[in-house]
Amino acid sequence: MQNTSNAKEAVLTLNKVCKNFGGVVAAKDISFDLYSGEVFGLIGPNGAGKTTLINLITGIYKVDGGTILLNGHDITKTPAHTRARRGITRTFQHPHLLNRCDIETNIYLGVDLAKKNKLLKSLDHKKLLDELLEVAGLKLNMRDGIDKLAYGQQKLLEVVRAILTRPSVLLLDEPAAGLNQKEMEHIVALVDIAIKMNSAVLLIEHRMDLVMSICDRITVLNFGNQIANGKPAEIQDNPVVIEAYLGRKRGA
Ligand SMILES: Nc1ncnc2c1ncn2[C@@H]1O[C@H](COP(=O)(O)OP(=O)(O)OP(=O)(O)O)[C@@H](O)[C@H]1O
Ligand SMILES: [Mg+2]
Repeated sequence: MQNTSNAKEAVLTLNKVCKNFGGVVAAKDISFDLYSGEVFGLIGPNGAGKTTLINLITGIYKVDGGTILLNGHDITKTPAHTRARRGITRTFQHPHLLNRCDIETNIYLGVDLAKKNKLLKSLDHKKLLDELLEVAGLKLNMRDGIDKLAYGQQKLLEVVRAILTRPSVLLLDEPAAGLNQKEMEHIVALVDIAIKMNSAVLLIEHRMDLVMSICDRITVLNFGNQIANGKPAEIQDNPVVIEAYLGRKRGA
């Protein structure tokens, strides 16, 4: 895998990470580095193991083998909440918002009351929130329930919530799935803000126009195996990748 800068240390490193579910190989010897200020694409057909990798990086799943490093420190056995505190933030393939709570409560879900009150009083924080909401095209009443939001708005709100934590590692699981063209442009603009704040962004996406236009590097999974690594143009023309997307069966 290419190192974008020889002098730069990786924010996140996966080293031969493995995960099986019974007989299903969801991740086999997956290795890559993620650097600050880059968008790293993680693509592959349905069931390839993309979301599993996010669950392994965040600590929701335990690895069966291999190691995960954050800023050079081994976090393979670090609990999920500690990884989150150290700057690993994710969004979900299907929005994880509480329908019965208002928008503000959802934005600060998991943040303790004292910290929330402090954040709400911080001008910097308020400025960032306003900027993110504007870039996301969200004109919201914070007291409204989540059920007032359309699906695309909920997905955008999740990305806003994630970037608001100023993550060092931002893991986006199909942020543009189900979004219209305009909403997808909002996603691009939000990712741009994350990059400007120097987050390392891992982007899982099936929408190839988005992947090819905003990723610096890409890795491709198929049946839990890393079948290709490279720049967008290299991946686009790679016959192994094309074959995987055309749906060759496992072991065929
Ligand atoms: N908790 C689990 N228990 C059992 N099997 C699982 C679990 N999570 C994932 N798998 C299996 O691991 C494989 C990879 O799943 P994963 O959700 O990571 O794929 P994906 O690449 O995110 O697919 P999609 O593009 O459809 O979201 C699949 O065969 C899936 O059924
Ligand atoms: Mg998935």
